[in-house]
Amino acid sequence: MKSIYTKLVFIFISVIILSLVFTFFIASKYFIKNIIAEVQEDLNEVGENFISIYQINDGNNQVETTLNMLSKNYSLTIYDGSYKVIIKNNAPKKFAVKKKNIESVLSGHHFPISKSSDKHPYIVGIPFERNGENYALFVQPNFERGFFKMHRILFSSLLTTLIIGSITFLFVAKLLVKPIKALTEATNEIAKGNYDVRVAVNRKDEIGFLSTHFNVMTEKLGKLEEMRSEFVSNVSHEIQSPLTSIKGFAKVLKNRELVNGKREHYISIIEEETERLSILSERLLKLASLDSDQHPFEPTMYHLDEQIRKVIVTLEPHWERKKLQLILNLPQTKIVADRLLLEQVWINLLQNAFKYSNNGGIISVDIIDQPHECSVIIKDNGIGISKENIERIFERFFQADQSRHKHGTGLGLSIVQKIIEMHEAKIMVNSMIGEGTSFTVILPKS
Ligand SMILES: Nc1ncnc2c1ncn2[C@@H]1O[C@H](COP(=O)(O)OP(=O)(O)OP(=O)(O)O)[C@@H](O)[C@H]1O
Ligand SMILES: [Mg+2]
Repeated sequence: MKSIYTKLVFIFISVIILSLVFTFFIASKYFIKNIIAEVQEDLNEVGENFISIYQINDGNNQVETTLNMLSKNYSLTIYDGSYKVIIKNNAPKKFAVKKKNIESVLSGHHFPISKSSDKHPYIVGIPFERNGENYALFVQPNFERGFFKMHRILFSSLLTTLIIGSITFLFVAKLLVKPIKALTEATNEIAKGNYDVRVAVNRKDEIGFLSTHFNVMTEKLGKLEEMRSEFVSNVSHEIQSPLTSIKGFAKVLKNRELVNGKREHYISIIEEETERLSILSERLLKLASLDSDQHPFEPTMYHLDEQIRKVIVTLEPHWERKKLQLILNLPQTKIVADRLLLEQVWINLLQNAFKYSNNGGIISVDIIDQPHECSVIIKDNGIGISKENIERIFERFFQADQSRHKHGTGLGLSIVQKIIEMHEAKIMVNSMIGEGTSFTVILPKS
């Protein structure tokens, strides 16, 4: 696997080398070409001047003085017809002159023949005659001075930049990659099921943000995992207890000597427990379906007041049995919502109000229709909920009164909350122990 570190270093060095090559290419094409022409012109001028001095001043000091004077900036060499060096100064040379080039200049050609194609642009050869003999003068600049020195300094600076830059980048890249490595290790831990792992957040850049979000995500995952295992243990407990009681009573029923009254009582308990299991599995399936986000959500426009009236009518046995008094204030109200889902909300809330009311209690249901939202308030004067329990009533399987445990699953309000979330609505509870409870659902109209 190519690590991000190798990739970063590779990309950095490639980019630097590519830009250097590119710059060099552009410079040679447009800039160096001009300089070569200039340098060659200069060399030719120096050469021609020297030749004229040399031709006039045969064997006197003038030639020597001029040569020495020029040796600071130029290297001059004169070859005779037998390719022998007859005059030269001691300026440092860069290019050795090839015999074939001396030959070509001796035969009267200038060197280089064509400016652009020659490999040695910084050297010129000039043919001249003296006393009927052919000579060749080669002039090249002193590469230790002026432009050439600067050129070399520039080149070495670029090279130094490349080397220092690359070494620095090796460390910088390591620093950059370090938190990513830490994140990878932490992810591996999470994959193994360890949700206690956290990464250090000591920077304020994108990686710092990533680390912060990672820690938040890990914490949430940990809580979710906790909830999941609690849920599984709750489900198994809720299934196990009715099963145990069914099993027990079925065993007792095997006894043929059982009196008839008892037999019927046990059978009705088995029936009740089976019913409870059936409701439990139905509610669990409903919750799982709502949780999956795959549950159909089909909002339509309908009359909310009619829906609530219908639910109250179908629940008549519940309130009739306890002789509850119902006060309805349901003005005509149109809303857009998922009809079936919302029906479940009213059923669960009203069932609770009926269930947790005392005989002869009063239940009121109000719709308050406003331009942007509408509220439904379901109020009872039943047993109420204590302050510490109120915060937990929407938890799955939570039941405040354990003695009433048998009469429910503790999932009703969890389903209500899920449906309220899907509608982007709000639910609020107000309750006082012994005085009653009111649930307010606020539905947005758009
Ligand atoms: N109107 C109410 N008055 C008093 N307590 C309530 C009321 N509504 C809910 N509660 C409390 O909140 C708990 C959770 O309610 P929820 O509807 O989720 O479960 P449940 O009614 O016990 O069971 P299920 O709805 O499955 O039959 C109830 O057990 C009860 O203690
Ligand atoms: Mg309930």
